[in-house]
Amino acid sequence: MNVALEQVQVRLTDLRPTTDDITADVLAGLSRIPRRLPSKYFYDARGSALFEEITRQPEYYLTRVETRLLDARMQRIADAIGARAHVVEYGSGSGRKTERLLEGLDDPVAYTPIEISRATLLDTTARLARQFPRVEMLPVCADFTQPVDLPEPCRRPRTALVFFPGSTLGNFARGDAVALLAAMRQTMGAQGRALIGIDLDKDTATLEAAYNDAAGVTAAFTLNLLARLNREIGSDFDLDGFRHRAVYARERHRIETCLVSERAQVVHVAGRRFGFARGEQMLVEYSHKYTDPGFADLALAAGLRVSARWNDDDDRFGLRLLQAI
Ligand code: TRP
Repeated sequence: MNVALEQVQVRLTDLRPTTDDITADVLAGLSRIPRRLPSKYFYDARGSALFEEITRQPEYYLTRVETRLLDARMQRIADAIGARAHVVEYGSGSGRKTERLLEGLDDPVAYTPIEISRATLLDTTARLARQFPRVEMLPVCADFTQPVDLPEPCRRPRTALVFFPGSTLGNFARGDAVALLAAMRQTMGAQGRALIGIDLDKDTATLEAAYNDAAGVTAAFTLNLLARLNREIGSDFDLDGFRHRAVYARERHRIETCLVSERAQVVHVAGRRFGFARGEQMLVEYSHKYTDPGFADLALAAGLRVSARWNDDDDRFGLRLLQAI
């Protein structure tokens, strides 16, 4: 499909999930013990806007530290990647870090953001198309956990670079993270590279503050998931009946973000009833935190090795370059 974005023609591949997919995912999650909601549905237009606001909260250091780290190491990253890359980004969001990357790389040929939020995808692509007229924009609206056939650029790329910043990898349970890394390995091929942002393990207070900001933006973000589901699949979650809570489970190396039921209540989804006890927790997100050996191990399980690593001066956040073994 070709879409006109303020005078820029862009070839969009649209594989957006349907309402049926969302309902099936929600029913599956609510039928588990403990209950879960699928976190990929956070990012509707309002969710994406709230996430941008999270990245500006004083407690949420991840985005700031990673962006600075990318700036500081860009030349070395560009040298390691080489010229004429097809850049593929999983979950592109606002594309602020992408700007840095496309600017710093040597003659990138094409950019393929794979993003589930269509509004975010089109906004970001339109902006980048104006900013980088020599880079072919080939956006794909899809759930990046599913395999995606890459659109072919007009100009022949020399290499592929999968870009996966934001410690989004940490939002997946270990098995899913390995599967995702293995899919990236396929996408980038034997000669390609993946550049992955990972939040590093650190003290509990810093981590918990990042996911429980004082202004309540993260709470609004997680509760927006319920609002979205009510609107799109006709569920009847009471937004005042659930409270946001994020706790660092040190033994599992992850922040566990939950919605806690404030009272005993029943929620209806697609004709089914789900009873919640008072205080019952519904898991909405993991945010894994990494150590060097832990991350190398994860990569290895997907047939990848760490070929370069960069941390900020305080070892808060890291970038890792991966390649096939
Ligand atoms: N990748 C981000 C992270 O794990 C996403 C995120 C930030 C998030 N804050 C959140 C997800 C709160 C769920 C709830 O840091």
